[in-house]
Amino acid sequence: MKNIAAAVMICLLATSAHALTYEEKLPACLACHGEKGISETAEVPSLAGMPSDFTLIQLFLFRQGTRKVEIMNDLAKDMSDDDLRKFAEYFSRLPPPKASGEPADPQAAARAQAVIAANHCASCHNPDFSGREQMPRLAAQREDYLLKALRDYKAARRPGYDATMDEVIRPITDQNIVDLSHYLARLR
Ligand code: HEC
Ligand code: HEC
Repeated sequence: MKNIAAAVMICLLATSAHALTYEEKLPACLACHGEKGISETAEVPSLAGMPSDFTLIQLFLFRQGTRKVEIMNDLAKDMSDDDLRKFAEYFSRLPPPKASGEPADPQAAARAQAVIAANHCASCHNPDFSGREQMPRLAAQREDYLLKALRDYKAARRPGYDATMDEVIRPITDQNIVDLSHYLARLR
C-alpha cells in the first residue's frame, strides 16, 4: 500500500510541467522515508533527527549528481538552496528513531565496540551516535541501510562531501561492517 502511494506520487512528480515547490514534494519524501521521517522501507534511511547540515549537504550532492541515486537525483535537481534548507530543517526537528526489539547480540556488540574504539567513530558521530554538523546520526538507523551505506563507501560507490569516510572505511572488513550495522541499529 505504502509503495503504491509512493509510486503514484512519483508519477505525479515526473509528469508535472512546472518545478514543484517544497510543499508539493514533501508528501513524496514522507511516503518513502516514513510519515514521521522513520523509514519502514528496506534500504531507505530514516531522516528524523538528522543534523540539518548533514541532510543539506546530501541533498546538495544529489542535486549536483555527485551522489548517484536516481530517484533522489530526480527529486533534487530543481530544488532551490532555500528548498534544501527547508527539508534539512524539517527532518532535523522530528524526534529521532528509537531502537526496539531484541538488544544486540553481546558478542557482535563487543566486536563492534572494539572497531569503533580503534577507528574513533565516536569522535565524529558523537559518543551516543546522535551525529552533529555534517556527520550523520547512526543510532537506531535501519540496519539494512547502514550495511548498504558502509559497503557503498568500501566499494567507492558513494563519494562523500569530502574523503573522510573513504579513509575511515579502508581498514574495515565486511565482517566489521556486519557487526557495526547490527550494533548501531540497536543502539538505545
Ligand atoms: C521513491 C523513494 C524516495 C523518495 C520519494 C525520496 N527518497 Fe530520499 N532516499 C531514498 C533512498 C532509496 C535513499 C538511499 C540511497 C542510497 O542507498 O544511498 C534516499 C536517501 C536520502 C537522503 C540521504 C540520507 C542518508 O542518510 O544518507 C536524504 C537526505 C533524502 N533521501 C531526502 C529526501 C527528501 C528531502 C525527499 C523528498 C524531496 C526524498 N528523500 C524523497 C528514497 C526516496
Ligand atoms: C573524521 C570524522 C569521521 C569518522 C572518524 C567516522 N565518520 Fe562516518 N561519517 C563522517 C562524515 C563527514 C559522513 C558523511 C560523509 C558523506 O558526505 O557521505 C559520515 C557518514 C557515515 C555513514 C553514512 C550514514 C548515512 O546516513 O548516510 C556511516 C554509516 C558512517 N559514517 C559510519 C561510520 C563508522 C562505523 C565509523 C567508524 C568505523 C565512522 N563513520 C567514522 C565522518 C566520520
